[in-house]
Amino acid sequence: MKKPIELTVNDELMQVEVEPQTTLLELIRDGLHLTGTKEGCGMGDCGTCIVLVDGKPVNSCLMLAADARGRSVTTIEGLAKGAELHPLQQSFIDQGAVQCGFCSPAMILSAKALLDEDPHPTEETIKRALSGVLCRCGSYKKIIAAVQAASPKES
Ligand code: FES
Ligand code: FES
Repeated sequence: MKKPIELTVNDELMQVEVEPQTTLLELIRDGLHLTGTKEGCGMGDCGTCIVLVDGKPVNSCLMLAADARGRSVTTIEGLAKGAELHPLQQSFIDQGAVQCGFCSPAMILSAKALLDEDPHPTEETIKRALSGVLCRCGSYKKIIAAVQAASPKES
């Protein structure tokens, strides 16, 4: 039986009704039609479904929507400000880090969580932060370069 929950998605407070078994991924894609979040394996292995929950990367296929009650969810649709892309999105384009693009939302959100905590990460730290996302196109080198280029310059 569906139950109402309140949560914030991309800075918008909303009330939705979810079945107890509905995953956060199903709510995001099927309920809210935010299809930038991708479903790959559906079982926690590929990381393409990663969104930020209270700023931390989470495999949304493994989290129940009901457990997002009262929490703040950020999807890739929440990053741009109007027509202005987030610096990470722009950097992925500039560095040619997007091939098919299937992993890009999860890569960018994982990188955002990292840069929010550590604005000047080492290459090793970037690799570790992105290690939960598989890129079937093998674009890892350019993805890491894009994250490095997007980290704020020290003054
Ligand atoms: S779809 Fe969630 S980890 Fe693969
Ligand atoms: S760019 Fe195709 S899966 Fe990463």
